[in-house]
Amino acid sequence: MKTPVVLNTSVVGHRGACAYAPENTMASFIKAAQLGVKWVEFDVMQAKCGEVVVFHDDTLDRTSNGQGDLRSYSYSYLCLLDAGSWFDPVFSGERIPTLLAVIEFLQNMQMSANIEIKAFPGKEESLVKCTLEKMSAYLSSSNDFFIFSSFSIQALQFLRQYSPDCQIGMLLHEWEPDWQEICQSINCVSVHVNHEIMTADMARKIKGMGKLLLCYTVNDVSRAEELYSWGVDAVFSDVPDQIIKASTVSTEFCA
Ligand code: G3P
Ligand code: MG
Repeated sequence: MKTPVVLNTSVVGHRGACAYAPENTMASFIKAAQLGVKWVEFDVMQAKCGEVVVFHDDTLDRTSNGQGDLRSYSYSYLCLLDAGSWFDPVFSGERIPTLLAVIEFLQNMQMSANIEIKAFPGKEESLVKCTLEKMSAYLSSSNDFFIFSSFSIQALQFLRQYSPDCQIGMLLHEWEPDWQEICQSINCVSVHVNHEIMTADMARKIKGMGKLLLCYTVNDVSRAEELYSWGVDAVFSDVPDQIIKASTVSTEFCA
C-alpha cells in the first residue's frame, strides 16, 4: 500500500462549487480553486466512444442543452453541448469536460479529488478500467491526491481488483446490510454517508473502524458543526466557502 490519503480539509466542494457555477464544469472547479477549496468531488460516466466524462445525471436534459441518455453519444458530440446556460447565461461557453482535463487542472492547482464512479448497470468494469487507465500517470506519482468512490459495490470491487493501491471510499445513501463487511473486504479508506442518516453512534462506530468519515451534502453551517462534533472528518458542500469560513471562525473562537 502506498502512502495513505491525507485529508487536509474539513470541506469537499461538491461537483466543484456548484452553488456558484454549473456543476461538474471547469467553471465550477475554477470557482472552487478561487474559494480556496483543497478537495473537490465530481462524478464520472462513460460516453458511447469510451471517453470518461465528468457529468452527474444519466440523461443530458437537466444540465445541458442536449437530450436523452449520455451513453448514447460519443464525446465528439457531447463536447459541443452547452453545459452552462441552464445555470446562468453567463456560463454559456461551458462544456462537459473530460476526466483528464479536470485532473490536469486540479494537479496544476495542487488540489485533490474525490472521483465518484457513476457507471451504467453492467458497465462498471469498463468505466473503472478506463478511469484507472486515464489516471495511471497521476496515480503512480501521487496516489494520495485521489479517493475513488461509488454507490455501486461492483464498481468498488473492480476498483480494488484493478488497483490494489488506490484509495477507495464507500458511498452509503442508506445503511445497507453488510456494508461494514464489504467496506473492510475492499479495504476502503473512507466512508461517505448521506448526512440525513448519520447519527453520533454511527459516527463513533465508523471512526472506531479506523476509517475517514465524510458526509454529503451539507450546506447548513450548524449541521456541519454538529457532524464535526460527532467525529465527521469532512462534509461535501455546494457552498464550501461558507462552511470553511464558519469552521475557521469557530476554531479561532475556541482558541
Ligand atoms: O459523493 C457524494 C455525493 O456526490 C453523492 O451523491 O448524487 O451528489 O453524486 P450525488
Ligand atoms: Mg457525486
